[in-house]
Amino acid sequence: MKAFTIVASLLISLNAWADLTVLTDRPQARMAKAAQEFTAKTGVNVVFVEAGYSDLLKKLEEKSPADVIITKDLVYLTELDQKKLLAPMAQSAAVQKVQDFMRGNGKNWVALSYRVRTVAYDPSRVEAAELTTYEDLASPKWRGRLCMRSSSGSYNEGLVAYLIQTHGINKAEAIVRGWVANLAAPVFRNDTSMLEAIANGSCDVGISNHYYLAQLHAKNPNYPVQIAFLNQTQGGVHSNGAGMGIVAETSQTALAQQFIETLLADQYQLEISAAHFDYPAAKNLAPTSLIKNWGTPKLDNSSWSDIGKHIAEARRIMKEAGYN
Ligand SMILES: [Fe+2]
Repeated sequence: MKAFTIVASLLISLNAWADLTVLTDRPQARMAKAAQEFTAKTGVNVVFVEAGYSDLLKKLEEKSPADVIITKDLVYLTELDQKKLLAPMAQSAAVQKVQDFMRGNGKNWVALSYRVRTVAYDPSRVEAAELTTYEDLASPKWRGRLCMRSSSGSYNEGLVAYLIQTHGINKAEAIVRGWVANLAAPVFRNDTSMLEAIANGSCDVGISNHYYLAQLHAKNPNYPVQIAFLNQTQGGVHSNGAGMGIVAETSQTALAQQFIETLLADQYQLEISAAHFDYPAAKNLAPTSLIKNWGTPKLDNSSWSDIGKHIAEARRIMKEAGYN
């Protein structure tokens, strides 16, 4: 019985060695080719566990087997960091392909791909030149013309945290109050329904992740909504994105690092980002999907980690401003 227990636990530990477990809230199919290459090189099989972020967080807190975590937002990356669930990563040449501000301040996560959260508009009623800053969208000029998705969810939490990082809390709150005052319609459930409201004439402008509009343009090249990058003459547009880190509890740090570096290889950077109409995180690469026609936005270079420190304040000021 004793010998059986020893053999069984040996088999379990051998099995743990044999796999690299990757927790992800991104579609695993997009990473399948990179996983195959990793397995061919290392002999180690990649097991994806795909679930929503809160389920993945629970798995980490319960110490389920996990080596790498991939999640879709700076709000989540900074939370994993604050909860000390990530291990430091070697800042290898592959990791340094990603700009500093898209890497955790503690060197324990790195972006996989990024997006910008900016303004979409109806070109029959708005000139692109009229669209300047997040702050301007709070001015009375846009009264009854702005649409927004709800304040719940990470995208607007990250955006408002960026405003706090950039302008300080008082001005950030004034901007949010201005947006609420300008709303043309009750807040929408998601960015896509907000973009559809612009298309059907319910509002003139709205703030969206760029890839939702790209998805609509992919289906209909004549979709009657366009995009403009905000803050191009001051600071740059707010970026956010998916990132990845090594799980603090792993015993396979080197393999976890190697898998992350595989996803940062040019080929997979281009394929994975194009599948989502995202921008590749590697700074040497330009997007290949239809977003390449939108030009190259100047990005705000606030550290995503620094933005992430303001999430609780962002939630509070959105609530206080009556942003539902
Ligand atoms: Fe999304």
